[in-house]
Amino acid sequence: MPLVAGVDTSTQSCKIVVRDAGTGRLVRSGAARHPDGTSVDPRHWWDAFLAAARDAGGLDDVAALAVGGQQHGLVALDAEGRVVRDAILWNDTRSAPAAEDLVRELGDGDPSTGSGQRREAGAQAWADAVGSVLVASLTVTKLRWLRDAEPGNAARVAAVALPHDWLTWRIAGYGPEGESPLGPQLDALVTDRSDASGTGYYDAEADGGAGAYRRDLLRLAFGRDDVVLPRVLGPAEPAGRAHASHAGRDVDPSTGSGRRAGALLGPGAGDNAAAALALGMGPGDIAISIGTSGVVSAVAPRRTADGSGAINGFADATGNALMLAVTLNAARVLDAARAVLDVDVHELADLALAAPPGADGLVLVPYLEGERTPNRPDATGTLHGVRLATSTREHLARAYVEGMLCGLADGLDALRAQGVPVERVSLIGGAAQSPAVQRIATQVFGLPIGVPEPGEYVADGAARQAAWVLAAATDRAAGPPSWSTTIAATLDADLQPLVREQYAAVRDLGVR
Ligand code: XUL
Repeated sequence: MPLVAGVDTSTQSCKIVVRDAGTGRLVRSGAARHPDGTSVDPRHWWDAFLAAARDAGGLDDVAALAVGGQQHGLVALDAEGRVVRDAILWNDTRSAPAAEDLVRELGDGDPSTGSGQRREAGAQAWADAVGSVLVASLTVTKLRWLRDAEPGNAARVAAVALPHDWLTWRIAGYGPEGESPLGPQLDALVTDRSDASGTGYYDAEADGGAGAYRRDLLRLAFGRDDVVLPRVLGPAEPAGRAHASHAGRDVDPSTGSGRRAGALLGPGAGDNAAAALALGMGPGDIAISIGTSGVVSAVAPRRTADGSGAINGFADATGNALMLAVTLNAARVLDAARAVLDVDVHELADLALAAPPGADGLVLVPYLEGERTPNRPDATGTLHGVRLATSTREHLARAYVEGMLCGLADGLDALRAQGVPVERVSLIGGAAQSPAVQRIATQVFGLPIGVPEPGEYVADGAARQAAWVLAAATDRAAGPPSWSTTIAATLDADLQPLVREQYAAVRDLGVR
């Protein structure tokens, strides 16, 4: 069977898996780090891709490749295909005031209403138009920020891409003159529905589900819309070929031999949609991912329009909707606890499990970096219930884990409030391996939990898409290949209502 590659260009690193297209068996993998920070020169992503490909033993033998990536980042290109400035990433909150302005502006239709009502009307209007109420993460708010804060850079923008679109374009051989074999063809940029649906200027439900850009909203935010936007491809629609110097050769299935024509490229996907594809999620499945961001996601046949802003109605990578609640404070809350207590991950888990559920009233509200859900970009974390009896390492460890999980449980409730069925929960992401996180999750969520074996689910989803595109090239009706996921642990529900009651009692204290 031919080999396929899946790439995850994530916030922290580039990861590549090479898998057997038929069985999904992992053949090789590689990784390379990205620099830290919330704005990054995309050149580092390209260098990391090349290093990860070398680490994976090269990509010469792959027949197809697809890229999954961190969503929303603004990659603004000039007419020569050069980035206008460092990319501004999803976790950069500088555009929070721009998001607020844009929400109010779209609600300005009836100037007789008060400002509170205008905000509410605007929030609902954005949710209706693109599936999400704007917060600083969404690309369109970063364009507004650029227009106002860096007019010189804004004037040079000729195309706007997302991290996965840009990397796919580079792998196809495009890029600035002298740095790429094919040069700066901006109209060769492509994306997919899932990532486009996180821009704030794309409606995945338009035209009966075909999807369409909302250039009027782009113009509202950026002051002009004469920029190239990547062509939005359908779930298994090929995105052309990789340049043969970067990945693959054209494998003849009858002989298994190939000539160097470049791997078939998949449309790629946003990271959350790629993970959902890897897990084979369908309606009723919930994935809770605890990584840099905390993501509660559900696949649904159609998105809803949550004017409260708790739920983003994105698209998945198969033609369904992907409903997400995203918190900014996930694995890093546990990192903070480890730093404060000077312990490793195992010691942190032991400490947390040694304190009782509810930590005798010690409650962390974990907005350590502001928060996105709920939308509180300027909030800080707070510790409540500090007494002599709760001033122990065990109580502190437990409070940090519980606070982080309570933030995610609020996201789960927001999905339920949108009528999304919540039946099965898979816990993924680095922190999902912690026995304390697993056990306390059963107490906070009150649901049975499956923990798939540790893996690179975003890269795996991209690889699965690559295999799908390859199969669809000969059989248009082909669906995603049926690769299986191994569940490493299954835990029963053990609801301890006290934990969330205590959290709910203090979560909103001091909110302006
Ligand atoms: C989703 C989001 C994050 C990033 C992280 O809306 O902002 O999950 O995609 O990579």
